[in-house]
Amino acid sequence: MTSTEPRLQHLYLSHLAPAFDFGAFKLILDVSRLRNPAAGISGALIFDGERFCQLLDGPQAAVQALIDRLGTDRRHVGLTVLHSSANPTAKPQQGWSNGYCGANDLDVFAGEDGLRGEAALAAFMAIVAGSDMSD
Ligand SMILES: Cc1cc2nc3c(=O)[nH]c(=O)nc-3n(C[C@H](O)[C@H](O)[C@H](O)COP(=O)(O)O)c2cc1C
Repeated sequence: MTSTEPRLQHLYLSHLAPAFDFGAFKLILDVSRLRNPAAGISGALIFDGERFCQLLDGPQAAVQALIDRLGTDRRHVGLTVLHSSANPTAKPQQGWSNGYCGANDLDVFAGEDGLRGEAALAAFMAIVAGSDMSD
């Protein structure tokens, strides 16, 4: 990705669909590890056993194409956009990582009163920092 290329940063929360179990997460990790670096997408995906929270950061077209695929993926439901920023000022996330967070960590984003925008981004980064992450 060049510095002139528009960048998109996108953070969302979703729920594992009832028809799927933990095995879905493993398959999602496999495809993410393969495709995200190839597309220049960095960020992180965390899972608490029931909910996903994912930050995507990269070239606008590539991130938007992934958002479109996520929108039709039946393994999760109830997608809520927590933060979306074209040409974000924050420095890009380095690399791609994933991990498991505590059962209550994602509660701060839940419901209409949940954190949104830059506050949500900051909270997500804090959760990632405190979680057992791998790449
Ligand atoms: C919670 C969640 C997170 C996902 N994250 C990614 C991701 O970071 N990168 C990716 O390529 N696919 C991700 N996927 C899978 C995509 O929705 C899609 O299945 C995959 O990219 C393959 O798309 P295709 O079969 O249309 O080529 C995720 C799916 C879910 C449910």
